[in-house]
Amino acid sequence: MHTGLDVSVDFAARSLAGTATIEVDRLASDAPLMLDVRDLEVRGVQVGTVGELRPLAEANVPWREATFTIDDAEFGQALSIDMPKGVDAVRIDYATAPTASGLQWLAPEQTADGTSPFLYTQSQAIHARSWIPCQDTPGVRSTFDAVVHVDGGLTALMAAEVVPSKEAGEFRFVMDQPIPSYLVAMAAGKVEFAELGPRSGVWAEPSVLAKAVSEFGNVEAMIDAVETLYGPYRWGRYDILVLPPAFPFGGMENPRLTFATPTILAGDRSLVALIAHELAHSWSGNLVTNASWGDLWLNEGFTVYVERRVMEALYGREREEMEAMLGKQDLEKELAELPAADQRLATDLVGRDPDDGLTNVPYEKGALLLRLLEETYGREAFDPFLQRWFTDHAFTSVRTADFEAFLKAELIEKHAPQAGKAPVDLEGWIHQPGMGPGAPSPHSDAFDVVDAALKSVLANEVPVNKLDTKGWTPHEWLHFLRALLESLTPEDMATFDQAFGLTGSTNSEILAQWLEVSVRRGYRETDDAVETFLLGVGRRKFLTPLYRAMMESGRQADAKRIYGKARGGYHPITQRTLDALVQDG
Ligand code: BES
Ligand code: ZN
Repeated sequence: MHTGLDVSVDFAARSLAGTATIEVDRLASDAPLMLDVRDLEVRGVQVGTVGELRPLAEANVPWREATFTIDDAEFGQALSIDMPKGVDAVRIDYATAPTASGLQWLAPEQTADGTSPFLYTQSQAIHARSWIPCQDTPGVRSTFDAVVHVDGGLTALMAAEVVPSKEAGEFRFVMDQPIPSYLVAMAAGKVEFAELGPRSGVWAEPSVLAKAVSEFGNVEAMIDAVETLYGPYRWGRYDILVLPPAFPFGGMENPRLTFATPTILAGDRSLVALIAHELAHSWSGNLVTNASWGDLWLNEGFTVYVERRVMEALYGREREEMEAMLGKQDLEKELAELPAADQRLATDLVGRDPDDGLTNVPYEKGALLLRLLEETYGREAFDPFLQRWFTDHAFTSVRTADFEAFLKAELIEKHAPQAGKAPVDLEGWIHQPGMGPGAPSPHSDAFDVVDAALKSVLANEVPVNKLDTKGWTPHEWLHFLRALLESLTPEDMATFDQAFGLTGSTNSEILAQWLEVSVRRGYRETDDAVETFLLGVGRRKFLTPLYRAMMESGRQADAKRIYGKARGGYHPITQRTLDALVQDG
């Protein structure tokens, strides 16, 4: 399948409009072509024969009007197009709705620089259909070419290779490797580029660029580290686009162009695991893709595992262990609350919105299973095994059963567990709820020291403002703050805040954790900071716990008031989650 896009960005109308031309491999000579759409205004549909004509966006063939229907479906609508004999392509003339769930239109004041509007897409999991008619499943792949028109001296970017264009306001792209719809991505705004390494760079609004360059200075070393472990980077360039703060996720692994939240710009590279994560998806996810969203752990669990291997390679085992411990804590906390069916790695999402299946299970339980396999068989056997998984399945979509079969044939039947290691209970890990049997126990000595410090405070041996926190990294602070949740009084927290200035922290992870603890413990000195944070940041992972803390601590009125002000600035994905939590709560 090959797709050609020709779209214009209209900031005033908050709409993308143009054509999508789709060339298909016809498997049945009389079947209609079924496409997913969501709230698209379909202005016309034509069919034709394009053969190998490229770029497809501009293919000049005799198009004829087609017969089509649009019917309501579970997550949007089904566009069904009659395909007469001999035609191999359809051309859909369409425009997106201002409310398209995969687009966020930002006014100038919602950007870092405040001078120009900004548009970006977020297609994962099933939002591509709200801005491109497509077969919106990770089980189908397409190559692409695209022309994007945008006025006002703005730059359009896509997660694809740039093709030079001589026309002002016209941007051209191609993606020669077949990718699933959830990886199609576009942005338009006032952004500038800076090089990071020979094949890497960063795009950001001008006022953010210098900070991004210094934060991401080790990206080239990260690429080298994954290549050493799992084989060549297959996508040519690796660039990062730093988005305005409304971006609902930490990062999104759009091929060749990771989208990232500005909240990882901590100034000390302490949050770059997120870049390692999105980069790792270039193997686990973008190259070898989960065939359905119920197999998400094949994307995310593998990626967290690879991310940790990269962090170990660049920063050493201690940092990796701290991150693994924080991850396992998150998982344990979530397992205590999740319904059993959502605790399995392989899940069944039939009839459910895949956005709702997003928990720590595919991420951290998935990563722990791979770590257990690594510990059981040793890196000598496991590393080449995983490399083969990526190379043998490159550019295909895979199911959990494919991995189970490959694992048995290529690792378990070829190697014995190392001395003293028990075989891994795959059924228990993949198909049963709960933490998997014999789960690895990441351990950080640095966290032991933090635990001891906390203990001495709680035993009144050391006043809270006299704690020796010299040399603590943000990870140690995070570990400490999590433990505080159950312990300190509001008075202790005030003393603590005066000593360590947490309310003024410029590290988003520490600030978000501190604010949540404050709300839960009734420490009201952070009220202004909480409101500023909720109004300024759109990252769902930070907003959800903070609003939830307010809802559960008798602060419903404040939560609703702030949400009323902030909602319009949040992404539709964030709005959907918070509507359920705050409005209906
Ligand atoms: N691909 C995900 C984001 C995603 C998953 C979006 C499912 C929509 C549906 C991305 O790679 C991711 O996992 N981002 C994390 C960061 C990561 C370090 C755990 C995030 O945004 O928090
Ligand atoms: Zn991910």
